[in-house]
Amino acid sequence: MDSKVKKIGILTSGGDAPGMNAVIRAAARTAFKRGIEVYGINRGYNGLIEGDIFKMDVRSVSNILQNGGTCLYTARSPLFKTEEGMQKAIDTCKKHGIEGIVVIGGDGSYRGARDLSLRGIPCVGVPGTIDNDIASTEETIGFDTAMNTAMIMIDRLRDTSQSHDRCSVVEVMGRRCGDIALNTGIAAGATAILVPEVPFDFKTNVVDRIKEGQRLGKNHFIVVVAEGVSHNEENGIGDIFEIAKLIEKETGVESRATILGHVQRGGSPTLRDRVLASRMGNHAVDLLSQGIGNRVVSIRKNEICDDDIFEALNMKKDLDRKVYDVAYEISF
Ligand code: ADP
Ligand code: F6P
Repeated sequence: MDSKVKKIGILTSGGDAPGMNAVIRAAARTAFKRGIEVYGINRGYNGLIEGDIFKMDVRSVSNILQNGGTCLYTARSPLFKTEEGMQKAIDTCKKHGIEGIVVIGGDGSYRGARDLSLRGIPCVGVPGTIDNDIASTEETIGFDTAMNTAMIMIDRLRDTSQSHDRCSVVEVMGRRCGDIALNTGIAAGATAILVPEVPFDFKTNVVDRIKEGQRLGKNHFIVVVAEGVSHNEENGIGDIFEIAKLIEKETGVESRATILGHVQRGGSPTLRDRVLASRMGNHAVDLLSQGIGNRVVSIRKNEICDDDIFEALNMKKDLDRKVYDVAYEISF
């Protein structure tokens, strides 16, 4: 298929996510197949500003599919949000003749891609973030791996909680989105799950549930808390360390708090993330090769599709309440 563009760039931006390498590989391979030159841009928008870019060859993306992290490195670039930074980024694109960029990242990175597109550098966004907080797509790349990692870690916490008759209070990532918490909470059999999208009463949703479990003979407990709850100073209960103390005080069950943290961002991507990343990377270059920019790639009902960046950024996403209800009905 003849391409309308001859040179494209690829960058990863914002928080890294397992599967970013699989996108880079798929995008580069698609481009090569269509006779397009590919430039790797290091450290997100910083690489564009500093001109830290290199020409990729057909073997540059060999043996990266299975690796966590991103071989192009990533960064958060405050300078890119300034007029000066934006101008330098555009100058780099012009200098190298870059006619389109695949931007792999979260909604912040999408905003940058929109700004570049509006200034004549067509960009296509690919949702690379563990948070699953992008409304246009049913799933983001890295989400599945992060959930599986969190589930395995919580299983280990359960072993020690069971041995000591304790309650383990676990904080998982997700920024303001409760999807990682909800799904890992179900998969790891949590007695209570706190997410930012659903208002809760600490007594009803945590304390009474643990007491009911005790009444039914249960003597160890898992409580999963989304960081969007524990980092919210207005939640009325404090961070997970304070939540653990409160649980111990109200139920008498000795409690420990654990923040899973950045382990959730690392590791080899799951099959699901590798396939999603490969399909999305391919689609992103398909758009650019037709001269189409200012789009973001999404998956809906297992179909890869794309949306205008501005429209995608204005879409709203809510937690799946049916899944939330299942969690509350079966965990006691
Ligand atoms: P993520 O892409 O994972 O949401 P960030 O929100 O940190 O991560 O955004 C990544 C980068 O995207 C920022 O460091 C910045 O360079 C760029 N960016 C974020 N918000 C904007 C914005 N409103 N306008 C232009 N660029 C932005
Ligand atoms: O967006 C991914 C994410 O890991 C969030 O879940 C978390 O809130 C944030 O990034 C952590 O950011 P940092 O890598 O700057 O600590």
